[in-house]
Amino acid sequence: MLANISASENYDQSADPWQVDAAAFPRNGTAIEKLRFFLRYAVLAPSNHNSQPWAVRIARDHIDLLADRSRSLPISDPFDRELIISCGAFLAFFEIAARAFGCLLSIERFPDRANQDVLARIWLKRYDPGSPNLPLLDDILARRTNRHAFDSAPVTNEEQELLSFAAGSDRARITWITDGTEKASLAQIIMDADKAQFDNPSFLRELASWLRLPKTSAMDGIPSTSIGISGLTAIYIGPLLVRTFDVGQGKAARDQELINNSAAFAIFSTPFDTERDWLFCGEALGSFLLCAQRIGLRVSYLNQPCEVDNTRFRLAMLGSMKSNPQLVLRLGRTEFSPPPTPRRRLV
Ligand SMILES: Cc1cc2nc3c(=O)[nH]c(=O)nc-3n(C[C@H](O)[C@H](O)[C@H](O)COP(=O)(O)O)c2cc1C
Repeated sequence: MLANISASENYDQSADPWQVDAAAFPRNGTAIEKLRFFLRYAVLAPSNHNSQPWAVRIARDHIDLLADRSRSLPISDPFDRELIISCGAFLAFFEIAARAFGCLLSIERFPDRANQDVLARIWLKRYDPGSPNLPLLDDILARRTNRHAFDSAPVTNEEQELLSFAAGSDRARITWITDGTEKASLAQIIMDADKAQFDNPSFLRELASWLRLPKTSAMDGIPSTSIGISGLTAIYIGPLLVRTFDVGQGKAARDQELINNSAAFAIFSTPFDTERDWLFCGEALGSFLLCAQRIGLRVSYLNQPCEVDNTRFRLAMLGSMKSNPQLVLRLGRTEFSPPPTPRRRLV
């Protein structure tokens, strides 16, 4: 018999989700108690607009990960592509946390032919007691989307290889963009996508509905401080900015600066464009982000070209990908670390 944990009813709002105490791991607990504990790390995964579009069902001996399509973004993500990618990142964080505690999982993806919302069924296969891998867990707690300008130190070939390896070539292909000419072409594609999106009032309304002002108690969405507007500007201008004004020019100009101030770009692509590809791509993303965190690289997204048909096609041509672009990440180094974004903590 399945106990259904619905997104709205079973989130613990009292504790800070970013304060996870590794010592609380139930070493002597049942398999399901252990699996439940890993959810504390999994919810710290990134998601499009911090929509956290996941839900779980707890059974006697396994956990199901579900897509929560009530948290979809119909304008910028009409096919739930980024929604499933986000759930894939959740799954990667879950698995990496389990590994850090000596747990080997068995995961069946899309186990229920009758219900495509069930993305993965997860069992605990083996537990080897021992000291947890705290650095790995710390990487999960320290990772942030970092939208600051990065310094000019390059992302070395060794770092690129390490990151591509972490992502896993069977899950997603990574195309690196580091040279000036390709960066300029990428910049143009990103700015064209920005323009197309900001010319669309529905896109602006959707974006505005996920923007959160400072001191809000919301457990999801993007805090205005994370996108570089704060204080009075955020309170008075933030919502207007995205609801009323044509900021296509302004946003594109800022994105151009970010492109100039980024050591490297990684474009994730997949051979096909199915939900299975998206889930794997999200898992690749999760592993990639934690590897980047470990080696001191910071990451953010300029994902808009994947969200507009014309620019998605041009992106595929860049770097002769011959596959389907899913994510555009920018990488580099900065001392600045943004505050954590809110999370709904599963209980
Ligand atoms: C599939 C996906 C797409 C995203 N696209 C963008 C994007 O285009 N621009 C951006 O600034 N952030 C993007 N993000 C980052 C989210 O906004 C971020 O993960 C979320 O606000 C939570 O913040 P955190 O990553 O710091 O925990 C994306 C994240 C995911 C998983």
